[in-house]
Amino acid sequence: MLPSAGGHAAARCFQKAAQLIEEPLMQKPAPTQHPIHTLLQRRWSPRAFSEKPVPPDVLRSLFEAARWAPSSNNEQPWAFLVATRDNPESHARMLSTLVEFNQTWARHAPVLAIAVSELAFARTGKPNRNAFYDTGAAVADLSLEATSRGVFVHQMAGFDPHKAIELFEIPSGWEPIAAFVIGYPGNPESLPETLRQRETASRERKPLTEFVMGDHWGKTAAFVQD
Ligand SMILES: Cc1cc2nc3c(=O)[nH]c(=O)nc-3n(C[C@H](O)[C@H](O)[C@H](O)COP(=O)(O)O)c2cc1C
Repeated sequence: MLPSAGGHAAARCFQKAAQLIEEPLMQKPAPTQHPIHTLLQRRWSPRAFSEKPVPPDVLRSLFEAARWAPSSNNEQPWAFLVATRDNPESHARMLSTLVEFNQTWARHAPVLAIAVSELAFARTGKPNRNAFYDTGAAVADLSLEATSRGVFVHQMAGFDPHKAIELFEIPSGWEPIAAFVIGYPGNPESLPETLRQRETASRERKPLTEFVMGDHWGKTAAFVQD
């Protein structure tokens, strides 16, 4: 894990490089302990978004990526409500489902969305205990497709699912799981001070030794210790 000062220095260095080569203003590549694909390394969740619209063909590709996510029994138990700024009424309505903290930064993003899961298998009506899991996988794939196109996604649990059901007339049997924004990264300087600090803070994760277990719960897998 990088110490915080190192993280700040890395973020500043990337900001400078980004300005020179016209890459996104702010990049925060994951300081990994083992090599991973560049796409995974580059994905992060900014809060500073540019107001630049995301073209419809790019949005189509993002949701096409979600479409091809794996799911239990190939049920594809997801649906997405998407509000773009060119429909200001729907953008404002979706924004109003977010908690105040998220509204402060998400309002600038050109695209807002809500991921919704179908709770039962369409064919049998039996509960689908993997519906949330599959929906998360679809959003993960969408996020990586976005990263490959210089577009970023920031997911949010901080929204009111009941309000979303009411305002978007989500039918029973479907549950709003998470909201997310889609857009091009903006200038962190545009954020209020507390959010600006979080935007440039170093990225942190638990070490593999804490969560990759071997033949007993709590016992780190041997290949991780090597
Ligand atoms: C399901 C989910 C809910 C989240 N909810 C919020 C949220 O309400 N507000 C927010 O600012 N960030 C939210 N986040 C973003 C996380 O804080 C972020 O993914 C985490 O700190 C790791 O940072 P990274 O995505 O840049 O690697 C959420 C992320 C996920 C996956």
